[in-house]
Amino acid sequence: MENNNQNNMPRHIAIIMDGNGRWAKKRGLPRNAGHAAGSKNFKEIAKYCNKIGIEHLTVYAFSTENWRRPKSEVDGIMNILRDYLKDSKNYIKENIKLDFIGDRSVLPEDIKELMITAENDSANATGLVCHLAINYGGRDEIVNAVRALIEKGTPKTEITEQLISDFLYTANIPDPDLIIRPSGEYRLSNFLIWQSAYSEFWFSDILWPDFKPKDLDKAIEDFKARNRRFGGV
Ligand code: FPP
Repeated sequence: MENNNQNNMPRHIAIIMDGNGRWAKKRGLPRNAGHAAGSKNFKEIAKYCNKIGIEHLTVYAFSTENWRRPKSEVDGIMNILRDYLKDSKNYIKENIKLDFIGDRSVLPEDIKELMITAENDSANATGLVCHLAINYGGRDEIVNAVRALIEKGTPKTEITEQLISDFLYTANIPDPDLIIRPSGEYRLSNFLIWQSAYSEFWFSDILWPDFKPKDLDKAIEDFKARNRRFGGV
């Protein structure tokens, strides 16, 4: 694995996997065929991130707002997720460690169990750590953190940025260096809103299922050329 401190490589890349629906529509296919193509592409990109030595990849797979979609589409995404989680021999073979962020309490029981199995099965992997955001919302995450801090009786004077970070789903994960959103949309859509305070953003018109390793290379190349000052000069 490459040393990420050389060449200013991003340690943590986060991706909003957008454009699956439009990709399917362009081909006269049902929306869920677009999500299936998006999932296949996610596997390719995760493999590639692992190969080039990225430490963390976070992908937005299902937001707290996505429940508003038609039941058939929600069920379709959950089935794709099931298939991915059941395919554990693949990510184990790739040496990829799986982790999940979001509120899992309301997910179907079998998916919750598959998530625990996936975490356990991949716990010893030493390559890429892949964080799947499922039933994730940035505002929901902050609300949960505040509730937990109050429940613990945390004194006002002890509330710091670090403490709030420690109560988010992403505690122990470095903040994303680079956030990528394909498909021509220019917003965060409630993704990692606390963690992205100093992230670099990279947008493109490519629809997610068509986003290839060469596109990721371009995003990384642009990232390396940027001057990150973190509020300094
Ligand atoms: C956004 O595209 C995509 C989603 C809401 C779902 C993404 C889910 C997957 C790629 C499958 C998840 C499974 C794994 C294993 C990661 P959109 O539907 O909003 O596209 P549109 O804007 O073109 O309609």
